[in-house]
Amino acid sequence: MKALILIGGLGTRLRPLTRTTPKPLLPIANRPFLEYQLNLIKRHGIKEVIFCVSYLSHVFEDYFGSGKKWGLKIEYVHEKKPLGTGGAIKNAQGLINEPVLIFNGDILTDINLTAMKTFHKQNKSLVTIALSRVKDPTIYGLVETDKKGKIEKFVEKPSWDEVTVNTINSGVYLFEPEVLDFIPKGLNFSVERGLFPDMLTKKYPLFGYIFKGYWLDIGSVEKYLQANYDLMLRNVDFPIKGKMINDNLWAEKHLKYGKYMELKGRLVCGNNNRIGEYTQIQGNVCLGNNVVLGKGVYISDSIILDDTIVKEGVRIEKSIIGKNCLIEANSVINEGSVLGDKTVITKYSKL
Ligand code: GDD
Ligand code: MG
Repeated sequence: MKALILIGGLGTRLRPLTRTTPKPLLPIANRPFLEYQLNLIKRHGIKEVIFCVSYLSHVFEDYFGSGKKWGLKIEYVHEKKPLGTGGAIKNAQGLINEPVLIFNGDILTDINLTAMKTFHKQNKSLVTIALSRVKDPTIYGLVETDKKGKIEKFVEKPSWDEVTVNTINSGVYLFEPEVLDFIPKGLNFSVERGLFPDMLTKKYPLFGYIFKGYWLDIGSVEKYLQANYDLMLRNVDFPIKGKMINDNLWAEKHLKYGKYMELKGRLVCGNNNRIGEYTQIQGNVCLGNNVVLGKGVYISDSIILDDTIVKEGVRIEKSIIGKNCLIEANSVINEGSVLGDKTVITKYSKL
């Protein structure tokens, strides 16, 4: 069986970070997000993957190449302009002649794909959608099923008065190959707004596989941070990169830290980090490669990407700092800030 991953979206809710790095390649605890999906796929015995790319496609190709390094065969299918989720899948039809697992490229999950496959076969389903339970279905695709799991209704981004259940489309599908014949060729077409409702009207068998494992869409700033926290808190079962030095500190090569560093939460460090004296780390903090923190810096629940320099006395709370930034001394970066790559913040600034 092959897996197909939809990674052509613009990642608008994560701008400015996604201007240079596509959302599926943003790091979670220093590992490009997509590697977690590939890890999951491999755990369930899949070795061939199709990447449906459009926006910043070369960045994926440069990073993953043929996939050999990951023990996978990766094929790329390009859209000149984004064709929507359905159009992207249709575009890959030439590579699909058996059931295929399809993933949105922005969901962190440890779903049991093998159990999902068994469920799909037992129900002789044409499309099986993995469903997760959430508190707010209005930002997802709401899916209503009967007791046996047969899907009765699909409403993408429902308003609150349309919310009848808490089961939503988790962005993991199993398609029989003939389903691709129902998608128009060369058009922008959505599986969520077009294909699924159309198939339901025509009474085709679509099933919802409800699972209880970890699930998160990383597509907003708040959720992207949450994914980092959850990985560091071990709420989701994936290995953290680097050597575990304490139960709250993981570091890759050449970490140097000064006297009286206070680690009150958890810290993940990439290669070549230098952390000054009297630095305080609170909550879950992640530092990329070559990050330098000056004396007396305070950081809580934040992500600092590669090659960024943070000078003495800076305070950063619940924020994301892009690559190659310079945060000059004594600045304060308050909760919810997102700084794009190469941002310079001058001394004593307050954001
Ligand atoms: N190749 C390609 N082309 N990929 C696309 C395109 C496109 O035109 N448009 C979106 N994608 C990819 C995105 O890169 C992302 O990985 C995935 O499809 C889903 O797009 P999002 O923009 O993240 O959608 P969403 O989060 O608002 O909603 C979707 O995901 C929810 C679960 O996280 C829907 O599928 C909802 O029904 C679902 O509940
Ligand atoms: Mg999404």
